[in-house]
Amino acid sequence: MKVEHVTENKKDYLELLLIADEQEEMIDRYLEKGDLYVLFDDGVKGVCVTVTDGDVGEIKNIATAEAARGKGYGRILIDYAADRCKEQGCSTLLVGTGDSPLTVPFYEKCGFVRSHRIENFFTDHYDHPIYEAGIQLKDMVYLKKNL
Ligand SMILES: CC(C)(COP(=O)(O)OP(=O)(O)OC[C@H]1O[C@@H](n2cnc3c(N)ncnc32)[C@H](O)[C@@H]1OP(=O)(O)O)[C@@H](O)C(=O)NCCC(=O)NCCS
Repeated sequence: MKVEHVTENKKDYLELLLIADEQEEMIDRYLEKGDLYVLFDDGVKGVCVTVTDGDVGEIKNIATAEAARGKGYGRILIDYAADRCKEQGCSTLLVGTGDSPLTVPFYEKCGFVRSHRIENFFTDHYDHPIYEAGIQLKDMVYLKKNL
């Protein structure tokens, strides 16, 4: 198992990136300037993209392959991304997500706590309604972790 910092041909991982962020145009806003980390374990098992701004890092995308979930890969990617952000001078790591039972508990297990929310983010910025666990996502919920 290894995690690699991928700097070229980032779109090769689009299929996994689209699992976490289903509109490619939104991915294009952060993929080039962001740091892409790819977890390999007998094939590609997960991806994570972070961007940093001063002492704040943000996870913009994280996904593990459907058949590879629940095996700890998501946590490994979070820990790896957190270490890289810390090396880049960040003291806080943020992540924004829909208010969904499929993602918020995962981040909480990985040491994040709820921070703030941006109202109507999903309804204002995406060109179609986004559903998770049968619920339409509306606000972006931010969670944070001290590094
Ligand atoms: C969210 C996601 C990245 C989690 O990846 P994963 O590889 O399954 O996560 P892990 O196996 O490392 O889980 C870490 C911990 O979180 C817990 N967890 C994961 N998903 C959970 C959920 N929906 N509810 C409760 N706990 C959850 C695990 O049980 C584990 O806890 P433990 O260490 O106490 O056993 C993965 O489900 C995914 O790719 N989902 C689709 C894309 C997505 O929604 N990305 C986030 C967009 S904001």
